Amino acid sequence: MASFTIFGTGNMANAIGGVFANGGASVDYVSHEQAADAVVNGDTVVLAVPYPAVAEILKNNADKFAGKTVVDITNPLNFETFDSLTVPVGSSAAAEIQSALPNSRVLKAFNTTFAATLASGKVGDTKTTVLVAGDDADAKSALVTAVQAGGLGAIDAGSLKRAHELEAIGFLQLTLAAGEKITWTGGFGVNN
Ligand SMILES: NC(=O)c1ccc[n+]([C@@H]2O[C@H](COP(=O)([O-])OP(=O)(O)OC[C@H]3O[C@@H](n4cnc5c(N)ncnc54)[C@H](OP(=O)(O)O)[C@@H]3O)[C@@H](O)[C@H]2O)c1
Repeated sequence: MASFTIFGTGNMANAIGGVFANGGASVDYVSHEQAADAVVNGDTVVLAVPYPAVAEILKNNADKFAGKTVVDITNPLNFETFDSLTVPVGSSAAAEIQSALPNSRVLKAFNTTFAATLASGKVGDTKTTVLVAGDDADAKSALVTAVQAGGLGAIDAGSLKRAHELEAIGFLQLTLAAGEKITWTGGFGVNN
């Protein structure tokens, strides 16, 4: 059985955990208070926390992530200006996390799907599809299978380099929703 440990107990943690549980996977959560010395049971770790929190989680738990798949879902926005990402130009949060975790298989996923669309399974009239990028084919395939088992679409979006493009899409989608041009129950959908 697929097993997931999700850091965070907020909107995305619950939405993502719900998808995995719907697909029959085992899911446990690490709260903010527990994160300083977490128990990591899952084969896959999901970092459902703000990007600035990731560094602290890695500082305290990186050795426990060795040999595991680590899923980065963050949109590393500068929330003061809403006008840029905080990662180096041309890089991505996922690439930075992979550099910090050389013994883990880092994937980018879920950052282009608002929490509400993971819970409802729909972006407008379109089935919600999770885009997954990463360099390890087996890790990507396992995540795609777990998401599909939970009733959503999932697509292998390419190597970890594509996390840069996924974060650009997530950035744009966030600015559109924050500017009330689209709703938090909508966003970019995929027809395939
Ligand atoms: N919401 C969306 O639709 C959406 C869509 C795509 C991607 N994302 C990304 O998903 C991530 C989570 O977003 P969210 O909407 O779920 O936020 P949220 O509802 O505010 O939840 C954030 C969670 O992270 C925990 N946390 C904060 N700082 C932490 C730390 N230093 N160590 C451990 N845990 C910490 C929080 O715990 P406390 O509340 O106890 O502090 C909370 O459980 C963000 O990176 C965001 O960019 C969100």
